[in-house]
Amino acid sequence: MQQHLQAAQSEQSAHACVLHQAWAKVPASLSRAEQQTHVAHIRDLLQQRQAVMVAHYYVEPELQDLALATGGMVGDSLEMAKFGQAHAAQTLLVAGVKFMGETAKILSPEKTILMPDTDATCSLDLGCPADDFAQFCAEHPDRTVVVYANTSAEVKALADWVVTSSIALEIVTFLHQQGKKILWGPDRHLGQYIQQQTGANMILWQGSCIVHNEFKGSELASLKQQHPDALVLVHPESPAAVVAQADVIGSTSKLLQAAVTLPAQIFIVATDLGILHEMQKQAPHKHFIAAPTAGNGATCKSCAFCPWMAMNSLQACAHVLQQGDAGITVPTPTLQAARKSIQNMLDFAAAYREFGPASDDLHTHIQHFHHWIRHHERTATFL
Ligand code: 13P
Ligand code: SF4
Repeated sequence: MQQHLQAAQSEQSAHACVLHQAWAKVPASLSRAEQQTHVAHIRDLLQQRQAVMVAHYYVEPELQDLALATGGMVGDSLEMAKFGQAHAAQTLLVAGVKFMGETAKILSPEKTILMPDTDATCSLDLGCPADDFAQFCAEHPDRTVVVYANTSAEVKALADWVVTSSIALEIVTFLHQQGKKILWGPDRHLGQYIQQQTGANMILWQGSCIVHNEFKGSELASLKQQHPDALVLVHPESPAAVVAQADVIGSTSKLLQAAVTLPAQIFIVATDLGILHEMQKQAPHKHFIAAPTAGNGATCKSCAFCPWMAMNSLQACAHVLQQGDAGITVPTPTLQAARKSIQNMLDFAAAYREFGPASDDLHTHIQHFHHWIRHHERTATFL
């Protein structure tokens, strides 16, 4: 039996919708034996349906391990999109939140995209209704519309570009160098960080992530003092006071890579704590500390786990695979419009990787990249 959990308080700002309708379901907890039964059952069902699992780092550890053990993947949102599109399987089981399943469907309309629970959403998606965002865009027709992947298919369909946190800086720098003014949505912290790093002319939708928005700057400063050797890893959906103290800022994959490859032994982690499973697996001798989510003396604090990611239970995975429903659907006109803006990002990311390893000076690197695309006969649909 599942209980309903009130997951988010209303958020007041110029453009954000109220989030009082936000809610999530808490799956019943399972004994070790029950978990193992479900895991075995899901393995069989994946085989029967010739399906592959595509999971995000924030879903529960058993699902991450199962995805890896069955030939699927665990990754950040950009890696999930790329993997799902490239994989031959005709059925994908996407363990994550709604926008990840929709993105998979948009990129592979011919595939069946199953999600353990289609009610698993995201406060950024909820806080950016397509009608309101369309009005925001209409008020600024001279701007290039860049939206974060954590949005509905309808919002993506309004955009020129979709970005994820792993490629947002590069794409906005690229657009800025072409003299484009940006309309950005929905995450205000990520938008502010990119604006500050690139100097681009950006106006920002005022959304936020209910998990990352909780990290606290002054308490992080105290924690750093207690652990002077620790490196601070921060997802850029966090507030500016937290980002300002980071040693590494980036997507979940970038933070994981930093935890594994950097020589430090202690890391303070400011992102959803689901990431600790893979960090601890890949760097078992290192020590990871959760960044603070409450002020001194606070009587309650955020757990730093996304309530919607938590809806991806083993039970729900088994159920959706067994049910054999048609999966995620996106209306064709929306799908086609959204596909173009997502494909721009994927084409950019592929060309950028082909261009070569990034240098420290992003601005100069992107200038050279631009020159390279233009003068090396590389077809770039996004130019
Ligand atoms: P990543 O792109 O880093 O996976 O982030 C997605 C997300 O939802 C973060 O909260
Ligand atoms: Fe959305 Fe935040 Fe959950 Fe990521 S962690 S899915 S941004 S609510």
